[in-house]
Amino acid sequence: MGDWVAFWDSQHSLYVSARHRDAHYRTIAEDIAAYIPSSSAVVLDYGCGEALHADRIAAAARKLILVEAAPNVRAGLAARFKDHPTIEVLSPQDARGLADRSVDLAVVNSVTQYLTSSELGALLVLIRRLLTPGGLLVIGDAVPPHTSLLTDTWALLNFAAANGFLAAALGGLLRTALSDYRRLRSRLGLSRYSEAEMIRKLEQIGFLAARAETNIGHNQTRMTFVARPR
Ligand SMILES: C[S@@+](CC[C@H](N)C(=O)[O-])C[C@H]1O[C@@H](n2cnc3c(N)ncnc32)[C@H](O)[C@@H]1O
Repeated sequence: MGDWVAFWDSQHSLYVSARHRDAHYRTIAEDIAAYIPSSSAVVLDYGCGEALHADRIAAAARKLILVEAAPNVRAGLAARFKDHPTIEVLSPQDARGLADRSVDLAVVNSVTQYLTSSELGALLVLIRRLLTPGGLLVIGDAVPPHTSLLTDTWALLNFAAANGFLAAALGGLLRTALSDYRRLRSRLGLSRYSEAEMIRKLEQIGFLAARAETNIGHNQTRMTFVARPR
């Protein structure tokens, strides 16, 4: 699914305005920060995207490792946080070189839908190795079967209304309808998991897993899972 990395690396219009982008990343950062177990924790955010408010996560932890596959996005992160003392920016390849049992909280938010099942399997094996024995994996925004672009659109409109960018969202939806995102989504599809399938996948790789009550971010038709090494 390398095409998805190229899409996220491009100047896409999925965030309909600066206000949307800011509200999106603020919400994600606050939701992730709520999972940080202590101020001495090492946190890894895999597939972090632009992570505009990563400093909020870093403020609640000892160290924040941002892992991003898209090279332009990663370069932007490295430039933005180059003077931040506790934020490190890595590629997925670099992340494979991290020490075993060195991460207390690993977050994978809104990424599983863009990975093939075997890519997700390999990522879970990596995270299982990196987590401390008492560590926590949080997989957010997993897409269940039978949701559609329409469901996502409705969730976005609600988020837009609550955050003051409804007019921009309506214009943005038209752009999305004509965009590479829609074409890619119908050509490549999204990887979808039912609650039971995701839990089974996590358990096969050595986690004890459960679905969280609420999803990270604005779309509550999607699912978040919490998992600990068994
Ligand atoms: C929707 S963005 C999520 C960004 C951020 N985590 C958030 O919640 O806003 C999807 C992310 O998945 C990453 N991604 C997509 N396909 C990937 C792949 N095959 N390997 C690694 N990362 C991938 C993209 O680079 C992008 O950062």
